[in-house]
Amino acid sequence: MKKYLILLLLFSVAFISCSNNEEDDYVDIVVDNPTDDIIIDTNILNLPATPFNYANIVLPNSFLNNAVRNEDNTPNNNPITDHGATLGRVLFYDKNLSKNNTISCASCHTQANGFSDPNRFSTGFEGGLTGRNSMGLANAKFYQNGRFFWDERAETLEEQTLMPVQDLVEMGLTLAELEDKLSREEHYISLFTNAFGDATISSERVALALSQFIRSMVSYESKFDEGLAQVNNIENDFPNFTESENRGKALFISNRTRCFDCHNTTVFVGDAPRNIGLDATITDEGAGGGRFKVPSLRNIELTAPYMHDGRFASLSQVVEHYNSGVQNNPNLDNRLRQGNGVRRLNLSDAEKQSLVDFLLTLTDNNFITDEKYGDPFIE
Ligand code: HEC
Ligand code: HEC
Repeated sequence: MKKYLILLLLFSVAFISCSNNEEDDYVDIVVDNPTDDIIIDTNILNLPATPFNYANIVLPNSFLNNAVRNEDNTPNNNPITDHGATLGRVLFYDKNLSKNNTISCASCHTQANGFSDPNRFSTGFEGGLTGRNSMGLANAKFYQNGRFFWDERAETLEEQTLMPVQDLVEMGLTLAELEDKLSREEHYISLFTNAFGDATISSERVALALSQFIRSMVSYESKFDEGLAQVNNIENDFPNFTESENRGKALFISNRTRCFDCHNTTVFVGDAPRNIGLDATITDEGAGGGRFKVPSLRNIELTAPYMHDGRFASLSQVVEHYNSGVQNNPNLDNRLRQGNGVRRLNLSDAEKQSLVDFLLTLTDNNFITDEKYGDPFIE
């Protein structure tokens, strides 16, 4: 009731401005305060009148324990709001973020691929290739040390989000150019106002909004989640799993494979960069000594190819690496060692297939088709 009154009040201070540009026959309603009412430039953007729910996604119990809560890297000064994430969504899909208007964040992070890129290396705004494989963005908010990129060079997500914009291969803009380009797009007046209270467009706000959108990308509706909700214990067989999927799950969490030691909790994510012995001689130092971020395995089926350099085309190849391919090197993680050498898993063909079958249960079709994470631009 109280909220209703406030809304009425805000409506009464709203003013309506009609553009006299022939091509822009839309109506903008600009409100001087964030409200549930959003301005839709119907020629360019398809946004709901009431923003989608990003701020209060109801997660299953398996995400509400301390282990997962502690992984949440949302900073106090940038909580997710529905309007903030909406602005982030538009920015994420806006090709104006690249120098020649050819590339958006989504060009290299496509929803159908778990926000990764099916190509081994991604193509930037002038046709150049990135040095590493694109990373899936599902559940990026759950990584306790809060660092981003394969080599963890970005200290926070807020710092990360402006780096592709300025990258000379990826998008090629200066932050001044970014601000200037966005100020020329009329719809950003209302989107920034709704998100931040006034229409000021700054690269800092771009970083905040993009980070809110990315942190809102939580995947929690896979076959694995359905099974876990039924038995509430990852160690028990899931009634909705096949025999092979249950065997794969048991292997994954076992001391024999130790997969779960590194890809931990229901997010299946690491806590620090690790060296998994991809090469005996390190060619990419990563975070130092060939150590790389341990990414979440959520939607892993969709984010092929795998590893920081996209060297493995399939999950079977990944499993074979852990089974028999680990190379000894001075920085190899202890979990993959045995004495002075490397540990071999000696998995049977059926066991390897079961591990793959289990990984496929982490695919979340609702997540990859949810409109709130999709392209809002009408083309
Ligand atoms: C030209 C392709 C390309 C574009 C455009 C691009 N990215 Fe990326 N993104 C990548 C690649 C490649 C990596 C991994 C790079 C690395 O680790 O060195 C990456 C990594 C990331 C990560 C790190 C994820 C993690 O878990 O650490 C985030 C977040 C991200 N990108 C967000 C964005 C945002 C936001 C934009 C738009 C402003 C964007 N990307 C534009 C290719 C791209
Ligand atoms: C010592 C820690 C560790 C262990 C144990 C471990 N992983 Fe990994 N995993 C990593 C790291 C680090 C990466 C990224 C490495 C890179 O790209 O250089 C990774 C990458 C992956 C990827 C590819 C992710 C992507 O987005 O490309 C898959 C799939 C995977 N691991 C599955 C498994 C399975 C299955 C097991 C058990 C058989 C396992 N991992 C055991 C640390 C570990």
